[in-house]
Amino acid sequence: MGASTSSLGGYASPPYYPAPNGGWVSDWTDAYAKAYDVVSNMTLVEKVNLTTGTGIYMGPCVGQTGSAPRFGIPNLCLQDSPLGIRDTDFNTAFPAGITVGATFDKALMYARGEALGEEARGKGVNVQLGPVVGPLGRKPRGGRIWEGFGADPTLQAIGAYQTIQGMQSTGVIACLKHFIGYEQEMYRMTSVLQTGYSSNIDDRTLHEMYLWPFAEGVRAGVGSVMMAYNQVNNSDCSQNSLLISGILKDELGFQGFVVTDWLGQIGGVSSALAGLDMSMPGDGAVPLLGDSYWMYDLTTAILNGSVPVERLNDMVTRIVATWYQFGQDEDYPLPNFSSNTLDATGALYPGSLFSPSGVVNEFINVQGNHNITARAVARDGITMLKNDDNTLPLTTDDSLFIFGTDAGANPDGINSCTDMGCNSGVLTMGWGSGTSRLPYLITPQEAIGNVTSNAEFYITDTFPSDITATDSDIAIVFLSADSGENYITVDGNPGDRLEAGLYSWYSGDELVQAAAAVYSTVVVVIHTVGPIILEQWIDLPSVKAVLIAHLPGQEAGNSLVDVLFGDYSPSGHMPYTIPISESDYPSSVSLIDQWPAPIQDNFTEGIYLDYRYFVANNIAVRYPFGHGLSYTTFHYSDPVLTTVTPLSQYPPTRPIKGPTPMYATTVPPASQAAWPTNFDSVFQYLYPYLDDPDSATTTTPAYPYPTGYSTTPQTPPRSGGAEGGNPALWDVAFTLSLTVTNNGTRPGRAVAQVYVELPSGLGLDTPPLQLRQFEKTDILEAGESVVLSMNLTRKDFSVWDVVVQDWLAPVDGAGVKLFAGESSADLRLVCEVGADCSTV
Ligand code: NOJ
Repeated sequence: MGASTSSLGGYASPPYYPAPNGGWVSDWTDAYAKAYDVVSNMTLVEKVNLTTGTGIYMGPCVGQTGSAPRFGIPNLCLQDSPLGIRDTDFNTAFPAGITVGATFDKALMYARGEALGEEARGKGVNVQLGPVVGPLGRKPRGGRIWEGFGADPTLQAIGAYQTIQGMQSTGVIACLKHFIGYEQEMYRMTSVLQTGYSSNIDDRTLHEMYLWPFAEGVRAGVGSVMMAYNQVNNSDCSQNSLLISGILKDELGFQGFVVTDWLGQIGGVSSALAGLDMSMPGDGAVPLLGDSYWMYDLTTAILNGSVPVERLNDMVTRIVATWYQFGQDEDYPLPNFSSNTLDATGALYPGSLFSPSGVVNEFINVQGNHNITARAVARDGITMLKNDDNTLPLTTDDSLFIFGTDAGANPDGINSCTDMGCNSGVLTMGWGSGTSRLPYLITPQEAIGNVTSNAEFYITDTFPSDITATDSDIAIVFLSADSGENYITVDGNPGDRLEAGLYSWYSGDELVQAAAAVYSTVVVVIHTVGPIILEQWIDLPSVKAVLIAHLPGQEAGNSLVDVLFGDYSPSGHMPYTIPISESDYPSSVSLIDQWPAPIQDNFTEGIYLDYRYFVANNIAVRYPFGHGLSYTTFHYSDPVLTTVTPLSQYPPTRPIKGPTPMYATTVPPASQAAWPTNFDSVFQYLYPYLDDPDSATTTTPAYPYPTGYSTTPQTPPRSGGAEGGNPALWDVAFTLSLTVTNNGTRPGRAVAQVYVELPSGLGLDTPPLQLRQFEKTDILEAGESVVLSMNLTRKDFSVWDVVVQDWLAPVDGAGVKLFAGESSADLRLVCEVGADCSTV
């Protein structure tokens, strides 16, 4: 970017060329064979057409590729979001990722993924743009941390794995995003107006934290990965050859296709060489002009030799193979909705000045019975932080007084703000592209009103001055904290919580204090995108109970009532820490608000994120990661640690790569790039054709190839070998079994969390505790017990050896300790490898 290395903090991203071809993993062999048969018969323009979007607003979806009708391949529809089908109707608005993380429930994670996939398929979406594991949640104020599953790589990894498997079981291609280091909204992208920030991440931190969930998503067989907007180590993600080709495709063995984030592409040849496979929505630096970095320009780049034919063949093979891998060649619906309008008819290509019109919405209802799953996720994510004097559950005889606009409806209508770009009424999700419209909304007010007639509602954030209370009256105060994506600013917050900080919005903290001054019993319900500071009122004597209901989606009220009135015990656990003060975080995770470029965001806290940092530094927190109370209590006993596969220092040698498709590498004849005769083109729509194909072949490529550019294949990395990495990393090293007994008086679900402590003998600093596995019980009746058996893999005990470039483990697990408990600060059992297990 023209800056010297010293002004870039010494962070640079080494080159990695050429991009490795896909197809060498056995699970994908059949799909690649089918793709080969098709691609080997494609013309140059047919290939190019599948790699590039047709332009923003040039079709029904947020992005669509060109098509290859001779082979039955339609324009592939790419559509948000990770929590529901965006910008349409008759869809379900599920709880957001952070709520899913809080459930710690693998079955629910899968069920929600499957339901999302069914809805996407029902609408004709080929590629659903989720789940999100980047941001990882490094910055508590980061605008999009709620789209992912929590501030822990294992929780993110398991959330992604289950969601992807569920989604893709329906034939939809999931898109794991955003790769990688995308932790802040402000200055996130490079455009004609600004240069995006660089997330400067050292190799070990990258592997042990940010890459961890992506590796698990690739292992789940994810079909596509979206590159982040930002730079990593001063190279834009969309053309960072080390990230795309070295790490994602070679080391993690990713077999699907890599797509840009929307308008995140900044170069044509550069991104192609770096390993990018698909450009979305296809436009160049300035959208809507009919310009593209690829499409017709990629055609030219192939004809003049700037981009090797082999690279194009790999791009399109990856895309077509993925389409086959999920069976989209058979009975897959075409889009039957428009993300541009809810009208039945309208412009087919609203991005064009002269668009033809037609039917754009068929109003297909895809909700099925997904409200049940949506409610279950929202309910089982509700996290009870505090419950003094067993204040909860309430009874319908209790005399209730409800305060806060977060209990009610948005007076302007549930979908009145585009992409949820406002915080009015109960907060069901953050804002931006990671949203969907609400088909309906059950507010807390409505749901509470449905079960009791003893509730009075004050849907206001100002405590009424004339209120008096008796000792038996109970106040329930609703608070919210919102954030979202950067293209919308809400109340001064440009995505990130710049203005609001980590405090409740709309004077919520004062509302609680005012209620606590009048009522002797106050229950606080919080809808929040992430960490929130509670110190202004948490210790007030009348604040008896606190529930974090996260971001519940359309079933906000019903799920809350399920818990408030005791039909279900709360069973959610915190997917991040609630600190005492924002200043308790390392200063390196603050928002970077410096200008101009180059903005350097140095990840100097390394692998010490959230509880890893607080525990290592003995910093007291208000509520630890993993914390969550129930109406009952659980006893942990009978731990047994069994060695399954003895650990060697490094994993066994990786499997060798299987073959990849071999095509002719000759440049196709320029005549293939000519416009078809009598072609009726749409103005500004992006096409792969050239007006003068012959002149393309005669232009000498003046392209300055990047340093380190090479077409000689790299030696396959020793830590790779299959999807996710060397398959031996997932060998089960130990099984930990234990008994959980409900020793309280009510039914409830426990979440057993396993944290690993690695020995200092590894020679590397590691956090004292790292979550590596968890399991949630079914509902246990009072007195009931269950034995949980949890597998821990080689990777769970490994650190990234930056010199050897492989995963290093303590031989035979010597010195490893495994803790099991109910949170990172409530550890009940400990097993030390080679010694006995005991209670803590
Ligand atoms: C930008 C967002 O970062 C990404 O998550 C989304 O999928 C695309 N826009 C498409 O809307």
